[in-house]
Amino acid sequence: MNMPAIKINGLTKYYDDFLAVDGISFEVNKGEVFGFLGPNGAGKTTTIRMLVGLSRPSNGTATVAGYSITDDIVEVKRRVGLVPEVSNLYDELSVWDNLLFMSQLYHVSRHERANRIEEVLHSFDLMSRKGTKFGKLSKGLKRRAVIAASLVHSPEILFLDEPTVGLDVVSAHSLREYIERLGTHDTTVFLTTHYIEEADRLCDRIAIIVQGRIVVLDTPEDIKKRVRAQPIIRAELSRVPDGPLLHGLNKIGQLEHEGRFIHLRVENPGESLSALINLTSSEGVSVEALETGRPTLEEVFMELTGMSPDRMRAEKGGSRE
Ligand SMILES: Nc1ncnc2c1ncn2[C@@H]1O[C@H](COP(=O)(O)OP(=O)(O)OP(=O)(O)O)[C@@H](O)[C@H]1O
Ligand SMILES: [Mg+2]
Repeated sequence: MNMPAIKINGLTKYYDDFLAVDGISFEVNKGEVFGFLGPNGAGKTTTIRMLVGLSRPSNGTATVAGYSITDDIVEVKRRVGLVPEVSNLYDELSVWDNLLFMSQLYHVSRHERANRIEEVLHSFDLMSRKGTKFGKLSKGLKRRAVIAASLVHSPEILFLDEPTVGLDVVSAHSLREYIERLGTHDTTVFLTTHYIEEADRLCDRIAIIVQGRIVVLDTPEDIKKRVRAQPIIRAELSRVPDGPLLHGLNKIGQLEHEGRFIHLRVENPGESLSALINLTSSEGVSVEALETGRPTLEEVFMELTGMSPDRMRAEKGGSRE
């Protein structure tokens, strides 16, 4: 029997009249690292909160680890771990005592607790910090400790909400290695992120969510492949296009432009390039830089969300690679 780890069917959340999650449906396989990628306010955290029983769906259903989130939430809670956006550990307690507290909260049996805590601290290279107060750890180590704590009760499914936000490049990189290792074990990982590189690197599959709806769900490779089919021309013009020039560009291909920089999605790059050169010279504009290629995952994301990855980074305010 190969049941999915998570099976979501028409899951919906309203906050009063505001539709935050709009009838999403998909499955997450056992042992998979599944990425939930989307801009601010897309509904990522709301979805996670429903899946772990912290918020009731307005409509729809889901099973998590085989149990219904509306009817069997106690069973669900036993089988999932949650790493929230904001740390849930106590500054004044040592790393060890925080994990001990979590193990009690999650009913890890008394005789197993110490072994289990040692095991997770080892696997996150935190044994040397076991006596350190949580509040005294660096940001990166804090995040690692929070993940370790979420694993003391050996959950089948781990939910990570923006695990690397706000970390410096080195800590984010190191944390991703720990997350990757989780994926190679049996744990199913459901992670939300703003970062395309992160989703691309860590996830077996990615769902992109925009305004409460799933706009694409596939492996990173297939998402890239799908759009690689369509060539793109990138050019820098000597002036911002307007009037007849814009009109002409729109005829050559699907146009996006920001100031003097244009992107044209075209069918036939050869024909389109000569059309572009003819058009610009007849309008008295010169092409200062020109490149043809295939769209990157970032450009796909931009197309789907209408938002640039840079702006997403800026919104979250983290320093990134
Ligand atoms: N408790 C709440 N009451 C009212 N509206 C809420 C509540 N929680 C979230 N929302 C709204 O629902 C939408 C989805 O929020 P959610 O936190 O799920 O987004 P998100 O994808 O996690 O965003 P971020 O990337 O900023 O964490 C947002 O517009 C948010 O303002
Ligand atoms: Mg969120």
